[in-house]
Amino acid sequence: MGARVQEFVEYVQGGSQVEAGDWLPDEYRAKLIKFIEMHGNSELMGVLPEREWILRAPTLQRKLALTAKVQDEVGHAQLIYRVVEDLGKPREQCLEDLLSGRAKFHNVFHYPTRTWGDVGVIAWLVDAAAIISQKALLKCSYAPYARIMKKICWEESFHILHGRDVILAMMLGTPGQRELVQEAVTRWWGPLMQFHGNPIPADEDPMLYWRIKSQGNEEARQQFLDGYVPQILELGLELPDPALRKDPDTGRWLYTEPDWEELRHVVTGHGPRTQERLDLRRRAREESAWVRRAVLAEAA
Ligand SMILES: [Fe+2]
Ligand SMILES: [Fe+2]
Repeated sequence: MGARVQEFVEYVQGGSQVEAGDWLPDEYRAKLIKFIEMHGNSELMGVLPEREWILRAPTLQRKLALTAKVQDEVGHAQLIYRVVEDLGKPREQCLEDLLSGRAKFHNVFHYPTRTWGDVGVIAWLVDAAAIISQKALLKCSYAPYARIMKKICWEESFHILHGRDVILAMMLGTPGQRELVQEAVTRWWGPLMQFHGNPIPADEDPMLYWRIKSQGNEEARQQFLDGYVPQILELGLELPDPALRKDPDTGRWLYTEPDWEELRHVVTGHGPRTQERLDLRRRAREESAWVRRAVLAEAA
């Protein structure tokens, strides 16, 4: 390793941040692009499961709230792709790689949204799992990414309130409504437990090495369980894992090993809704191509 790279590693590992115009080692730049691009793809693809319910939202207020959330998520994708562009990968290329299946997006956005209960669970628990990772990114060694995370985290925390409100309303409703929530929680628990990824020892995690992330996968999952299992149980909901409990000696959550094979299968393009959602994104891109052409011609 060159002395310059060594110096850079020590600098970021010491907690300092770098800016877009600074010299960056090639490997660091490549890791950043891959990581941030996947985040952008997830924000963009993440609107599709919720979008399906805008027209079916039960009241006008719910429709407005869900529309606003979807707009926020598209805005997050917008901000994040700009950071990737500054690092040298054009947005067109990001979209190309997403649509061709070369680039990935988060596991939870490959699943169907069967009922209004899913909409509540996504906004409450999927956004809760996501904000834990995003809060840890506030300390990312790459300052432009850390900076936009402030706005994103603020909006995500609002999404969680919206989701919790949807869930609360249903839990205070009819037995049928409570059943919808329970059924959605049961279905989403597996993907939620897989969300932060399999545990990687800290000294083998390149994201921690470059201090792109400041938190390991297992640490994030433990934080999610700490924050949300008590809330879920308090509402009278049940979780489908009989092994789930907090070890009183260590303070760590114990649980059945998540299905890592399912995670790998889903994020490599084989989720139950992966192809359908990519097709929709592809069609939207084709149908809006004339707008981009017109705007670019106007700008030229
Ligand atoms: Fe978001
Ligand atoms: Fe969100």
